[in-house]
Amino acid sequence: MEKREMLYEGKAKKVFKTEDPHVVIVDYKDDATAFNGLKKGTIAGKGVVNNKMSNFMFKMLEEKGIATHFIQELSDRETAVKSVDIVPVEVIVRNIAAGSLSKKLGIEEGTDLKCPVLEFCYKNDDLGDPMINISHAVAIGIATKEELDYIGEQALKINQLMIDYFKTIGIILVDYKLEFGRCAKCGKIILADEISPDTCRLWDAQTREKLDKDRFRRDMGGVEEAYITVAKRMGIL
Ligand code: TMP
Repeated sequence: MEKREMLYEGKAKKVFKTEDPHVVIVDYKDDATAFNGLKKGTIAGKGVVNNKMSNFMFKMLEEKGIATHFIQELSDRETAVKSVDIVPVEVIVRNIAAGSLSKKLGIEEGTDLKCPVLEFCYKNDDLGDPMINISHAVAIGIATKEELDYIGEQALKINQLMIDYFKTIGIILVDYKLEFGRCAKCGKIILADEISPDTCRLWDAQTREKLDKDRFRRDMGGVEEAYITVAKRMGIL
């Protein structure tokens, strides 16, 4: 696979063209941002953990029947993935109250939710990724009702598979963010982006210690160590 010109540089990843128009290479950086880019920093080794963890999760989900963009890990930080047109919707699934949900609804962080909560946000940095509902998304033309229903169903299936997996390594899946894309080759909606401690809240099942990017967002220290702990429990480092 030949890495050609850079197509896009995001906050945590770079995306490169390849000789195949349907395949791109994702290169994971150690850069970290929070609060829509207001807080900036570096988490040493994060790119390696996020690359390997995302690939592990995508492979696990593929085995359980979820279509993803994953093709092949190329190096510690680089992976070949299917080229997609990202649906500009951040799909958030929550099992335990935390973060913006706790703040908005006045529910103490750590409170169990009686059922998983599914949220959609419009992926737009200038607007700060505002929460939207299906009719907003359809009305502004970013996805169809059928696409969003399908994305919601997939997100909830993925939720159970991820909860079950993390349980086996003593981790509680509090909440996470997913992104889906329209596959350039097959036209179908597939899971894309990443699944990592940047995009999930992961707590130790015994101590409820935070093992994710909240340690960076909240200046808690032990950020690198948390990412390494997750990777070691997953057996990928
Ligand atoms: P929130 O509680 O801040 O809304 O975050 C919910 C989940 O989504 C949490 O696991 C972190 C993840 N997330 C991202 O991956 N990217 C983002 O830009 C935000 C705001 C949250």
